[in-house]
Amino acid sequence: MAVNRRMWDEAAPLHVASSFYDVPGFLRGVSTLLPLEVDAVGPVRDRSLLHLQCHIGLDTLSWARLGARVTGVDYSAPALTAARRLARAARLPARFVRSDVYSAPRRLPELFDIVYTGKGALCWLPDLSRWAKGIAGLLRPGGRLFFAEDHPYAEVLEPVEGGFRVRTGYFRRRSIRYSMSETYATTGARLRNATRYEWIHPVSEALRALRGAGLEVEEFTEYPFSHWRRYASMGADREGRWRLPRREGSFPLMYSVLARRPA
Ligand SMILES: C[S@@+](CC[C@H](N)C(=O)[O-])C[C@H]1O[C@@H](n2cnc3c(N)ncnc32)[C@H](O)[C@@H]1O
Repeated sequence: MAVNRRMWDEAAPLHVASSFYDVPGFLRGVSTLLPLEVDAVGPVRDRSLLHLQCHIGLDTLSWARLGARVTGVDYSAPALTAARRLARAARLPARFVRSDVYSAPRRLPELFDIVYTGKGALCWLPDLSRWAKGIAGLLRPGGRLFFAEDHPYAEVLEPVEGGFRVRTGYFRRRSIRYSMSETYATTGARLRNATRYEWIHPVSEALRALRGAGLEVEEFTEYPFSHWRRYASMGADREGRWRLPRREGSFPLMYSVLARRPA
């Protein structure tokens, strides 16, 4: 996690300037939330919402625009510096707390109506049981967790001429070490902190972790589209959902979970 954090610390300012995150668009009023996220979570006005792994805060602040009382947590100081700056620029009330996800329950004294995370968050965490227990301890009784996440099956495949091939195991337990001078959001970067470790968490592992933490899974959905252009062959539909061309077949690219702490 320390190696990853160094990568995130370096990447965060580059992401603020990236077209991927489109900060000028956000400041003009564009929401960075997916329609499926807004629909699933429902009205948030005056609800307390905790965003775990909030990065530069765009999703957190998009919830604030919808009236939520938001707290963003991330372990990267430069990411939170950017998030606080964006909150000021957008004139949105928000609190950002620097913390590792696993320490958040100790760092935050209050309980939340909604815990929100995802869109590239879980693959950075080695232990989902601990993650789920932490979330259960951050939700008020009756409070809800929602996340939409990259589907781990898509992590297993890599594009090759004419299709895809299996590049690693869906059920592998060890982290995967990558060395890349770019992130998904940069172009032409040469990261000094190029090493990163990611974990593939099967969907069943995530659901088991949530149930093991005492949360009731109310909805589980898989999607044939991605929130980002994972493969060059993808095209965006009218709602900005990235889809594979039909000839490349269909496999799950995202999934989402709505879970509740019993009242
Ligand atoms: C891909 S971004 C989060 C996705 C978010 N939806 C976005 O695109 O803005 C991943 C974030 O997770 C944070 N992160 C990774 N591991 C973490 C950990 N153990 N504790 C807290 N934050 C972590 C990183 O600093 C980074 O800001």
